[in-house]
Amino acid sequence: TGRIRICDALTAKEAGGELLVKGWARTVRAGKDVAFLAVNDGSCIANLQVVVEPDIVNYPEVSRLGTGSAVAVRGVLRESPAAGQRYELSATQIEIIGQADESYPLQKKRHSFEYLRTIAHLRPRTNTFGAVFRVRSSLAQAIHRFFAERGFLYVHTPIITANDCEGAGELFRVTTLNMAKPPLKAGEVDYSGDFFAQATGLTVSGQLEGELFAQAFSNIYTFGPTFRAENSNTARHAAEFWMIEPEMAFADLMADAALAEDFLKFLCRHVLDNCTEDMRFFNDQIDKGLLSRIEAVASSSFAVMEYTEAIDHLKKAAVPFTFPVEWGLDLQSEHERYITEQVVGGPVFLINYPKDIKAFYMRQNDDGRTVAAMDLLVPKVGEIIGGSQREERFDLLLERMGELGINEEGLWWYLDSRRWGSCPHAGFGLGFERLLMYLTGMENIRDVIPFPRTPRHAEF
Ligand code: 4AD
Ligand code: MG
Repeated sequence: TGRIRICDALTAKEAGGELLVKGWARTVRAGKDVAFLAVNDGSCIANLQVVVEPDIVNYPEVSRLGTGSAVAVRGVLRESPAAGQRYELSATQIEIIGQADESYPLQKKRHSFEYLRTIAHLRPRTNTFGAVFRVRSSLAQAIHRFFAERGFLYVHTPIITANDCEGAGELFRVTTLNMAKPPLKAGEVDYSGDFFAQATGLTVSGQLEGELFAQAFSNIYTFGPTFRAENSNTARHAAEFWMIEPEMAFADLMADAALAEDFLKFLCRHVLDNCTEDMRFFNDQIDKGLLSRIEAVASSSFAVMEYTEAIDHLKKAAVPFTFPVEWGLDLQSEHERYITEQVVGGPVFLINYPKDIKAFYMRQNDDGRTVAAMDLLVPKVGEIIGGSQREERFDLLLERMGELGINEEGLWWYLDSRRWGSCPHAGFGLGFERLLMYLTGMENIRDVIPFPRTPRHAEF
């Protein structure tokens, strides 16, 4: 018999079959007459309980097996007399593939997420992180499916770039690291240091390149890593995160919001229907109201509120805020959460922000002081999506760049898109980790990325 995944063994139609599984022992309980190994292979949260009788030739070794050891188990699936599990595996043969001794850090006790961050190389072997990374993988595939079903072209935008899309000065600079420097021959250029002697950085967003593709393929999206050199010592900022950025030609702000709403609801529905066991785990262990909240969001319709109205609500709020509230100031996380949690009680699009707190590419509204921006705010996380209708009018775009001191030489190619065949277009960026926090209830961005890049985490 070939190896099967433990999730398949546990959902087999009937007992009695002979099968082979491979995985890691989560617990080992051994007595004189019988030993129990709980084996997990990452395919689901549940362990497969393996029952080992002393007539197995290597019973002495198996009974001394340490937590974390890798094993291959051949056995017969049978109905389990124990509560909480349908089947167990009655072992006929156990191969010890890789021993783990008692220095293995993941012994049976509960560990804090903080401690587990220090052993990011081992934490995927815990229940919580197993569930997080299964949901992460499943959502990534669902995201591609959502756009594929709607005819969006998937475009890979560059990681190394000279443009600062958001204009916030948050690019990490690209230079060589430990590059060998042989003596240069005549005529050779020393390329150590900056990227081939050009100042470049790691992209903060693929949007500008995405806009160019939207003006050729109509509807496109990107899905890739983005980098921000902001002081990201908060629970919802990372220096490296993944972003999904759709862009639609011939679309305005409301079409953009409609896509964002469909998208988020689709992803809610996806985890409810496809990640059932993991989602139940999050609901029971991490965030009690999670399932009913996501269920409600999947079948609700999102509120829309003007920035100006949000400021009025915040000014009238009875709670004290740490940061000031004033028309023209950006909203902080505490303000966003107040609006979505206390005023609306669900997801809300905030639209038409003051132009001076938003990026240069956003379309100016007729009032002369706001732009066609939209942020989607959700309870517990705050901003999960940021988007806008883009300024498609060449003169107005150029003028705005001038006002903000943005060098037009560096963006000549972007300006060209407004010269020939310019059209109304709009798009948004969804932070993949913020989405994961929202859908799993995990409260720290470091706990939804396999290997988080934050000021104190870059080693592995
Ligand atoms: O609001 P942002 O900065 O918008 C853009 O980058 C636009 N170019 C998107 C577009 O219109 N195509 O970022 C978009 C989203 C945020 O709403 C947030 O979810 C996430 O990206 N994000 C971060 N996630 C984790 N860590 C950070 N440091 C993040 N910065 C932004
Ligand atoms: Mg934003």
